[in-house]
Amino acid sequence: MKSDLVKKIELLKKEKNAVILAHYYCSDEIQEIADYIGDSFYLAKIAKEIKEDKIVFCGVSFMGESAKIINPQKTVLMPDITADCPMAHMVKDGEIERLRKEYDDLAVVCYVNSVLKLKTQSDVCVTSSNAVKIVKALPNKNIFFIPDQNLGRYVKEQVPEKNVILNDGFCPRHKVMTAEQVKAQKALYPNALVLAHPECTKEVLNLADYIGSTAGIISFAKNSDNKEFIICTEVGVLYQLQKDNPDKKFVFVNPMPICEDMKKNTLEKIIEVLISGKNEIIIDEQDRIKALKPLDRMLELAK
Ligand code: 13P
Ligand code: SF4
Repeated sequence: MKSDLVKKIELLKKEKNAVILAHYYCSDEIQEIADYIGDSFYLAKIAKEIKEDKIVFCGVSFMGESAKIINPQKTVLMPDITADCPMAHMVKDGEIERLRKEYDDLAVVCYVNSVLKLKTQSDVCVTSSNAVKIVKALPNKNIFFIPDQNLGRYVKEQVPEKNVILNDGFCPRHKVMTAEQVKAQKALYPNALVLAHPECTKEVLNLADYIGSTAGIISFAKNSDNKEFIICTEVGVLYQLQKDNPDKKFVFVNPMPICEDMKKNTLEKIIEVLISGKNEIIIDEQDRIKALKPLDRMLELAK
């Protein structure tokens, strides 16, 4: 039976001509009521196609910003304006300019987990689902990969023909997972396959049977004949994993990785922003045009 909160959201969505987008790291109750759920690449792509007037973006601020950059006619509302990805800020001031001076042909490749200012200074955006493909496709030999050192290192290993220069940013939730924690689960579930997000450290990725984005992990688990999996990413993916595979077992490392920022999205806050229109993403038009270039290039190269 639908709760009063869910019924209220459904009514408000119709009244305000709004849709709800949610990342796989949001809580189960958010994923249950979302119109579109996905990884950050899917959500950026779908934002371009939304026909409704308003998008309520249940994710973190860089995701809402990307939706607004791509589809500026829409009103993009964040249930909690403080939901932010710490890694999105992790590039030192002046670092991009310094490397551009050093390398004539430098391509600044910017993981979408980045603040607007970083996107405006970048040549192309990537997500964890297309970073390898896009870096391979670039004509440039020298690549500055920002902000995530772990995804950057993974790309560097997959594209050895390029000089991938790493930055020192990281996801605090993925960084703390250790190889020992994965091995401890492997001891309990020796037949389990290890599925890991590329934001994990090298030591964890070395133990992985599959490395990919949240959508990649979900799709791998669905298509695999294996019955047990150790999942090395944020625990929100469990909702879709269980929905797709009721007969399979999924375990996470202990302690379970939780992105507190993603969990700031709640049903009550969705109702609040739908009623009040507060927490709207507003972007300066000059910045938007600059940031759109690398995002559009990503959407083009990822095809
Ligand atoms: P995805 O691109 O796999 O959705 O990951 C986003 C993210 O924030 C990972 O921590
Ligand atoms: Fe950012 Fe990590 Fe949360 Fe993803 S899991 S949004 S990278 S803090």
